[in-house]
Amino acid sequence: MTLAPRPHAHFAPARNWMNDPNGLIYYKGLYHLFFQYNPESDQWGNMSWGHATSKDLWQWREEAVAITYTATDAVFSGSAVVDYFNTTGFGTLENPAMVAIFTEHKHDESRQVQSLAYSLDDGQTWQRYQSNPILDLEMKDFRDPKVVWNTFNESWVMTVVKPQEHTVCFYESDDLKEWRLLSEFSNSGSANGIWECPDLFPLYVDGDSTQVKWILFISVNPGGVTGGSGTLYFIGDWNGKEFIPDNLTTRWLDYGRDNYAGVTFNDAPNNRRIYLGWMNNWEYADKIPANPYRGSMTIPRELTLVTRNSKLTLLQNPVQEISTSKVFDYTFTITSDKEKTGVRFSRSDGRCVDVGYDPTAKIFYIDRSAMWFDFSTARIESAPWDSEQGPLTVRVIIDTSSIEVFVDGGAISMTDLLIPGDVADTASPL
Ligand code: FRU
Repeated sequence: MTLAPRPHAHFAPARNWMNDPNGLIYYKGLYHLFFQYNPESDQWGNMSWGHATSKDLWQWREEAVAITYTATDAVFSGSAVVDYFNTTGFGTLENPAMVAIFTEHKHDESRQVQSLAYSLDDGQTWQRYQSNPILDLEMKDFRDPKVVWNTFNESWVMTVVKPQEHTVCFYESDDLKEWRLLSEFSNSGSANGIWECPDLFPLYVDGDSTQVKWILFISVNPGGVTGGSGTLYFIGDWNGKEFIPDNLTTRWLDYGRDNYAGVTFNDAPNNRRIYLGWMNNWEYADKIPANPYRGSMTIPRELTLVTRNSKLTLLQNPVQEISTSKVFDYTFTITSDKEKTGVRFSRSDGRCVDVGYDPTAKIFYIDRSAMWFDFSTARIESAPWDSEQGPLTVRVIIDTSSIEVFVDGGAISMTDLLIPGDVADTASPL
């Protein structure tokens, strides 16, 4: 079997199946990335938390599997916190525990509950809390807790979903063990598929620390904007109890096919909000080649919120730490709003992928037809864009099996997988 080339600036495990990023946290100079992982096979199953660490967000060291499935339960998605004030009593003030809050999923699919595990050696080894679960609604589907120390509340806040009911629930706790329901948020207008992997976090508006807005991410599957899996978000306010959206307009985080279940790091330095998604789509995740790993993450992205034409706009851009020396990092400008413009990226095997702007349809698009598999019809993805807003920059990052496009300073992002191969090294006008 030919081995697929490994990505240069994207995390992928050495072998076996990977899906969602879990427990993203920065602690003692290291970014920790846990992830949904099957330690035994390149298909989904035996879900456990794999683990990797990085100093710079692009060179990752894979660590031992952190939390392993048991005879009765799988370890589904969740988050991690460092319990600096020792509210759990698991650690000490001198050596605080890293605590994982995850969904325990019964193999027989009868129940999903929230549980804890903790580590006293900076995430290397883990033990389960003996009084698990810490939150049980006796529901079949109830998952993906994102917990943060919420300075607004001066307590732990959990954002978690009831997937089938298209409902996000907010809970509060003083010790990560006892939880009180604060409120619920749901929106039938964006209730396609099921809701998974929520995240709630603040961002400054235009870098001004006195103006804070809150973002609520919800991953939906199927029903994503370009088909299959996708992530939508709302902008609003958090009053310590409820999330109040500015409006119920459905905004999409990414207009490609391959960015799902993404969440942001807890405790990133300098108030940065850093995001990582699973670069895949449930529609075909089990069919992409596994040689010998199956699945990779997006490039880590920094999220900011700015005012553009009096509207709040979420920007996402590759973190500046990323070394793009081994990937194809190419920026072009679109000046005309009258003609079809774009760039074809080609590689030595003769395959190519196109990125362009179509003024008639008023869309940005990626056409990966010549670099995509016969098993899937997901070939051309597009994002609506009204070009009358002036000249636009388009930054494209191509790695061994992916293309990521950031339009107009990150106002639109599009992420697509490609047939694995050498990194494209030629750009020519369309
Ligand atoms: C999202 C998801 C989560 C779940 C995990 C299981 O991709 O379905 O809701 O916790 O994957 O692997």
